[in-house]
Amino acid sequence: MDKLKIAGGYPLQGTVRISGAKNSAVALIPATILADSPVTIEGLPEISDVELLKSLLEEIGGTVQFSNHEMTVDPSAMISMPLPNGKVKKLRASYYLMGAMLGRFKKAVIGLPGGCHLGPRPIDQHIKGFEALGASVTNEQGAIYLRADELVGARIYLDVVSVGATINIMLAAVRAKGRTIIENAAKEPEIIDVATLLTNMGAKIKGAGTDVIRIDGVDELHGCRHTIIPDRIEAGTYLILGAAVGDGILIDNIIPQHLESLIAKLREMGVPIDTQDDQLFVGKADSFKAVDIKTLVYPGFPTDLQQPFTSLLTKAQGTSVVTDTIYGARFKHIDELRRMNANIKVEGRSAIISGPVQLQGAKVKASDLRAGAALVIAGLIAEGVTEITGVDHIDRGYSHLVEKLEGLGATIWREQLSKEEMEQMKQA
Ligand code: EPU
Repeated sequence: MDKLKIAGGYPLQGTVRISGAKNSAVALIPATILADSPVTIEGLPEISDVELLKSLLEEIGGTVQFSNHEMTVDPSAMISMPLPNGKVKKLRASYYLMGAMLGRFKKAVIGLPGGCHLGPRPIDQHIKGFEALGASVTNEQGAIYLRADELVGARIYLDVVSVGATINIMLAAVRAKGRTIIENAAKEPEIIDVATLLTNMGAKIKGAGTDVIRIDGVDELHGCRHTIIPDRIEAGTYLILGAAVGDGILIDNIIPQHLESLIAKLREMGVPIDTQDDQLFVGKADSFKAVDIKTLVYPGFPTDLQQPFTSLLTKAQGTSVVTDTIYGARFKHIDELRRMNANIKVEGRSAIISGPVQLQGAKVKASDLRAGAALVIAGLIAEGVTEITGVDHIDRGYSHLVEKLEGLGATIWREQLSKEEMEQMKQA
């Protein structure tokens, strides 16, 4: 296990190329289970969640080749092997195996998902959808058992707007009999990406990206080639980092429209940003105005960027309030930022940041993926050396982080944890 070290306080410059979207990748890969011939996905990020899903597909009999960001999955010999333990527990998105395996085999046994600890993360809306399609769903000793004689299309109203439930119900419904309508569906770009892959495989889906999705079930799906969308959260992370410590950074391979809420907030703070077709240039601001943000479902400000944004707000003049309406407990990074001299208090679902302060390097711990990104940005801002443990969280979602930051001129490196540090990590 590694830790990250950053010698902060220096300006960064140059170009960074954004990888394929993690939150698409973790759904696109399970979606290949639904085909009866090989599916190729281009542009995948090299992150540990993708590696975990690759080996889960192999566990159920898939043949998977992955090199140069391109994955080809031959699902023809897959079987509905129970996956109650092991790797499924390590990632949140293993819940997509439920929808995909139910859709293809009409049965699945999948351990309850792991992933980032952001407070309660129920999957009741996924289960409500599977049941509406005719599946019986039971929780037996920490694993979800799904069984159906047949899946029949249904009208499903989501009580909570959920990315995961919307995608999972699409996966289960594309091979069901008849029409499924998902109402109050989530509208994130990743949902459109998954619907595009499924459509290329022969599915009939209309309305992805709106809050009503109509799916007409088909008997079989075939292989195809698909290019993943760029990662708007990775792009947003580099954009925030560029605003905080950049002296002119070009962010390449993005869809600027996916980042509108973030760009608007950064401009409100005084950050110069120039958008082009699939690139964005972030210039140096003389000073930063304090702003308030409230996370919302897409196209609102993404919850996944509120933690990195908080690190930037420590440099802003005045008081900023960050309110997370999606995950009210997504504030584990705040204690770590305080260790670095930030002046932040948490009240309910909000963090109140007073600035500007000069962050100081410290030993800190990433408790989840985006907390890790927040600490990396804080480490780049801070004077002195910052040491970040919990790097496995960061490796779940940021492809080649160290190399990309080195390319911008950052002094960042990995070191192996000592035996003593490993012990401390295990006990924590
Ligand atoms: N919710 C329920 N019941 C459900 C499902 C969700 O109450 O059955 C609640 C959640 O507790 C949360 C809200 O609904 O309060 C939204 O959750 P959603 O289902 O949309 O989240 P998710 O699908 O589990 C995805 C991303 C997260 C991202 C959220 C919100 C993946 C694999 N994960 O999670 O990404 O924060 O949408 O946009 O796509 C990350 O990338 O760091 C990350 C955590």
